[in-house]
Amino acid sequence: MCGIVGYVGSGETVKILCRGLKGLEYRGYDSAGIALSERKGINVVKAVGKLENLEQKLSGQDFSTAGAGIGHIRWATHGGATLKNAHPHVSEDGRTVLVHNGIIENYKELKQNLQNKGYHFVSETDTEVVVQQIEEELKEAASPTEAVLKTMNKLRGAFALAVMNTDFPGKIVVAKRNAPLIIGQGKNGNMAASDLPAMAGEVERVIYLDDDELAEISEDEIKIVNAAGQVVSKTFKPFNLAPEMLSKRGFAHFMLKEINEQPGIVRRMLQKYLSEKGVQLSGLNLSWEDIRNLTKIEVAACGTSLHAATAGKYLIEDLAGITVEVEPASEYIYRKHPESRNVLVIGVSQSGETADTITAVRQAKERGAHVLAVTNREDSSIVRYADSVIGLEAGIEVSVAATKSYTAQLAVFYLLALYLAQERQALDEDCLRQTEQALQAVPSQMEEILANAAVVRRCAEKYQDARDFIYVARGVNIATAMEGALKLKEISYINASGYPAGELKHGPIALLDEKMPVLSILMPGSQNYDKLLSNSQEAKARQARMIAVTSSADRQLENLFDDIIRVPQVPELLSPLTANIPLQLLAYYMAEKLGRDVDKPRNLAKSVTVE
Ligand code: F6R
Repeated sequence: MCGIVGYVGSGETVKILCRGLKGLEYRGYDSAGIALSERKGINVVKAVGKLENLEQKLSGQDFSTAGAGIGHIRWATHGGATLKNAHPHVSEDGRTVLVHNGIIENYKELKQNLQNKGYHFVSETDTEVVVQQIEEELKEAASPTEAVLKTMNKLRGAFALAVMNTDFPGKIVVAKRNAPLIIGQGKNGNMAASDLPAMAGEVERVIYLDDDELAEISEDEIKIVNAAGQVVSKTFKPFNLAPEMLSKRGFAHFMLKEINEQPGIVRRMLQKYLSEKGVQLSGLNLSWEDIRNLTKIEVAACGTSLHAATAGKYLIEDLAGITVEVEPASEYIYRKHPESRNVLVIGVSQSGETADTITAVRQAKERGAHVLAVTNREDSSIVRYADSVIGLEAGIEVSVAATKSYTAQLAVFYLLALYLAQERQALDEDCLRQTEQALQAVPSQMEEILANAAVVRRCAEKYQDARDFIYVARGVNIATAMEGALKLKEISYINASGYPAGELKHGPIALLDEKMPVLSILMPGSQNYDKLLSNSQEAKARQARMIAVTSSADRQLENLFDDIIRVPQVPELLSPLTANIPLQLLAYYMAEKLGRDVDKPRNLAKSVTVE
């Protein structure tokens, strides 16, 4: 949801900024722009669309005198994806430039005040008021840093800002509130960025700014102050994200690479948390007594993370016998939650920066609930509000569509469910050990599925003409159906819905005809297997194109389904880990066949930092 970067140093400023923006591309691609502090003054270059359009504009030009610069990648909120709305924005006197991630909530009133003073605005953005306000403050302030500080104290909302001023060459001022901002120190210069991948290979140490802090960055100094202007001292942490970690490693897309990483991730997580003695969840700071006293678990999450939580509800209720409520974070935060004693609130977020999920955990913490954050980024904002943190250990996920983080979130829910069951003695020892053993076998079974990807690719070829898709399941795989449908629609732009199969006849069945594919996730041994078969028969009777994902060897299925994707047999409760992989591959191959931009689907951003 927009990303910013800044660099001051003796390196090649334009290259470093563009590499930085590449590392932030997952945050948006409506426009990109940079501002450079050159000998002749500040030079702004911007382009609508993806970063490559900006790179084309920059190519062949001489920027050798640029010793500092700021850059921006945009996901449009206020104003369309146009050149005039692209960042960096420039103050009316042309002396100050600024890039911004976030939303300024009081921009209308600030704009009115500035307009009354004679300022003119050229964009439709909320951001432009910030750069004009800095210009206004500079009339009195002793330095651009003081002007940014005064401006910051007038802003409401979320922001990470980077600012340059012509009277302040070789310096960048950055500030933040409710949006991430990291400062990096390297051999050839210093940087600031919305996220670590922007600084890979360039810096060796990092610090995280806290809310309402501001930093003045030059080549050899980083000075941090708080909202009162007092100097703050912080300790740098080593940083060594190698640029290769962000490479596709021979795969055509990051999404395919990340799908293929899943068995390794689950194996690593099981090695870390599961032993002969059972599950040890070091990140969960609840005593045995707290766990015994838990009356309810509430989970708030968005998108794919919400689907992982939906599966988690089945797992925890089934294995540990604790009631679990799962809700989109965007709804959870606008509802009363009368109970907080003995309630565990879980915020699930790959990025740890999703605004709604962060609000949900912040509110829960204020109510006195114990908050567990499940995140792939243990350096992210969600962690600040958490009493306990369990990391996903999935490594940086570059593709905008979440795949490996979903599987890692599922793995956390299995481990959590088993741990709670063990501590509450909700399952007998044999049953616990059997489930744990079955779980240990899953990574190899996932590898088997990936080795048979060609079956799914052929299926994608056959169904690429479909304009709509329905995924159905019962029980724990309702989450798989919803996640499969989300994956398909977000990267191939085919309309897809995931339903509990029993709901089909309560409305969606009206959509069925010979053009509509219906994909059933059928796990033999489940109590609903026969019921789901009947629901599939009902769809077949309406001439739907029938696909099954199943571990059943039942030859009867061949009469019912046009295409069958087989996965290894696992206990039903574990099948979300296996059944999901063909659905990820189906979405991937369909999108690829349709020529979509798989890793950067239109209109999306990986980190949704606005409500
Ligand atoms: C889908 C996807 C989104 C995210 C959602 C929540 O592929 O990536 O639906 O799952 O925006 O993001 P996190 O998990 O970062 O809170």
